[in-house]
Amino acid sequence: MSGLRMAVLVSGGGTNLQSVIDAVEAGALSSQIVCVISNKETAYGLERARKHNIPAYFINPKEEGFDEKLLARLKEDQIDLVVLAGYIKILSSDLIQTYKHRIINIHPSLLPKFGGKGFYGIHVHEAVLAAGEKESGATVHYVDEGVDTGEIILQRKVVVETDDTPESLQARILEQIEHKILVEAIKKLEGSH
Ligand code: GRF
Repeated sequence: MSGLRMAVLVSGGGTNLQSVIDAVEAGALSSQIVCVISNKETAYGLERARKHNIPAYFINPKEEGFDEKLLARLKEDQIDLVVLAGYIKILSSDLIQTYKHRIINIHPSLLPKFGGKGFYGIHVHEAVLAAGEKESGATVHYVDEGVDTGEIILQRKVVVETDDTPESLQARILEQIEHKILVEAIKKLEGSH
């Protein structure tokens, strides 16, 4: 099986990143994380990368040339697969075109439900509960020009409990679903590489 050269993009805590780091270190994936990149200087995901000796870069979105710098980093590192793991910035269409079918994202709902603009973080789970959904889950999908609209690679469900809060649902989906299907999706792509 061939390994992919991955870049993981994060904006926050990076627990999904951690699940990929752990899978690589355990030998469950043959791919490697070549770099971790963030648009937030204080993203804990950058710290997680450094703890595992993975080069971690902050690219300042307030400075000119953000998109060009990001693309240049990916090219320099000869990246095969870009993994968006809690990355909240919209990618440039140049980057999306260049890495067509080589960018994946994880989203904490059963897409196409509860996807698109405004559906991020805790807001997704608030909306799921407000709609009275009986089940929720998470989705790994390819990234296209839309928001959360790309082709689905993997999706898994959980039951919404009557006493769930947005926070309890978020935590359960992260631990029980996201951290598993992200690794499984990468493994699936390794197989088709
Ligand atoms: C996850 O729920 C992911 O699905 C969404 O953002 C969150 C990131 O969590 N896109 P973490 O930073 O990986 O802990």
